[in-house]
Amino acid sequence: MIVLVAAEKGGVGKSTIASNLAIHLAHSGVDVVLLDTDAQATCARFVERRDEAAIQPHVPCVQRTGEVSATLRDLARRYEVVIVDAGGRDSREMRSAMVVANLLLTPVRASQADLETLPKVNELIHLARGLNPELKASAVLSMAPSNPTIREVEEARELLTEFDQLKLADTVIRERKVYRDALLGGKGVVELDNATARAEIQLLVDEFFELSN
Ligand SMILES: Nc1ncnc2c1ncn2[C@@H]1O[C@H](COP(=O)(O)OP(=O)(O)O)[C@@H](O)[C@H]1O
Ligand SMILES: [Mg+2]
Repeated sequence: MIVLVAAEKGGVGKSTIASNLAIHLAHSGVDVVLLDTDAQATCARFVERRDEAAIQPHVPCVQRTGEVSATLRDLARRYEVVIVDAGGRDSREMRSAMVVANLLLTPVRASQADLETLPKVNELIHLARGLNPELKASAVLSMAPSNPTIREVEEARELLTEFDQLKLADTVIRERKVYRDALLGGKGVVELDNATARAEIQLLVDEFFELSN
């Protein structure tokens, strides 16, 4: 299974979601690999910090830029799940990965500036589906205000109904310091003492992966 985490914007939580999914899956016994296609190399450096601190389980990370579909097909033969962390903006990496991915997760913050990038993402999914009709695609509200009374999440949900190619994930990833600490420490939030963040990642995994164990 190839899961692409991509968006038209930087700083929306792509690397955070990609790394947390990979670590959670690894703990669930899934043979998972990260593919970092972003020149910023956030996931590659995350894995380096993890390995330097000898944190188990080890999750391999491959770095590639440009046309990545052949690399992805190869990795998908060797691993159960490939998580692709794509760089911000429409890129060759994002487009070529979309053609072979099974699932696209596009993190989006509940802000006007982020929501304005969605018509482009919607269009890219439409194009990719011409070649890859099985591609599933969901937007994931990311870094959402943790105060549940804030209406922004509900408003974003309503706005998202406009985009015919994208569903909105039920799981919402909220703004929590523990996500920043985890990324810096080479860990997934599943490895830290924060039950709410752990539960969010668990829900995201339950929503999109069918784990046999
Ligand atoms: N849910 C979250 N709560 C708090 N901080 C977050 C969250 N998601 C991401 N961040 C922080 O925001 C910054 C950008 O996140 P990152 O995952 O690197 O985004 P992207 O890969 O889309 O550029 C990082 O410092 C990261 O630790
Ligand atoms: Mg990133």
